[in-house]
Amino acid sequence: MESSSPFRSDILRGKVALLTGGGSGIGFEISTQFGKHGASIAIMGRRSSVVQSAVSTLQSLGIPAVGFQGDVRKQEDAKRVVESTVKHFGKLDILVNAAAGNFLVSPEDLSPNGFRTVLDIDSVGTFTMCHEALKYLKKGGPGRSPSSSGGTILNISATLHYTASWYQIHVAAAKAAVDAVTRNLALEWGTDYDIRVNGIAPGPIGDTTGLSKLLPQEMDGSNRDHVPLYKVGEKWDIAMAALYISSDAGKYVNGTTMIVDGGLWLSHPRYLHKDAVKELSRTVEKRSRDAPVGVPSSKL
Ligand code: COA
Repeated sequence: MESSSPFRSDILRGKVALLTGGGSGIGFEISTQFGKHGASIAIMGRRSSVVQSAVSTLQSLGIPAVGFQGDVRKQEDAKRVVESTVKHFGKLDILVNAAAGNFLVSPEDLSPNGFRTVLDIDSVGTFTMCHEALKYLKKGGPGRSPSSSGGTILNISATLHYTASWYQIHVAAAKAAVDAVTRNLALEWGTDYDIRVNGIAPGPIGDTTGLSKLLPQEMDGSNRDHVPLYKVGEKWDIAMAALYISSDAGKYVNGTTMIVDGGLWLSHPRYLHKDAVKELSRTVEKRSRDAPVGVPSSKL
């Protein structure tokens, strides 16, 4: 059952948010909570059917919402979607980069192109969206009132690169780059354009593709017990952190990546025998391949 929000329902009133990967998983929960707290929502995603269904759900909740098909790996898509969002809603206040790619593979079986693909989505895609959104987010940009501050950027990251993770070398490298983008833009665009740039690093969050891949049900009773709070998080937990950071509550927060993981990363990664990792990843990837497109991750 979803918890109610501890925030006032108007903390994002009048704001326009664009979310990549905003049609499913954690991205969709952030879209929904931003909308419930007063924001107008634009969703960008690779799959039109997922984007359209997310937009319909938001609209049925009375949230002004629009969707655009697009791939963050294509600069022309990023530019078109940012411009279309501003055309539709008149301005842009919040950019959330939640689009990500993930699959389990050992470094020896990962081709350089597979490594590059995830960096292209997570790291280059995040930078590309920021780059295209800059002119609208900066203080005094088109659609912004002269008295209002610059906009904000929120990059969804991870914790797996703080230590090391089996079969995740490409994702760890990609998220390390995302964190660097967050810090460097916070410094440079905070100074020059009054734009705040932050991140959130979710830990194990229930009912997500990430959890079904990184902490599959086959691991129940073993790795899940290693979360200091003894439970996985909810997408709601990430959305509440996103609300805090992206609203005026977080107006002095710039350049941080907030870890929302119940303290998991503080525990040493459990050593798994490589044969066990291989076996698990085969099961997980097969399940993900066999699932029809658009199936909720809870069903994987
Ligand atoms: N194992 C190993 N390599 C893989 C792979 C897997 N499961 N999936 C993709 N790759 C490699 C491909 O082999 C290819 O490299 P190659 O040309 O050297 O063979 C490269 O990655 C590109 O693959 P392709 O299928 O053409 O890319 P794509 O653009 O269609 O999709 C992803 C790539 C990452 C987006 C796709 O695998 C995906 O949708 N993953 C799930 C998204 C996800 O989990 N999101 C939630 C994140 S927590």
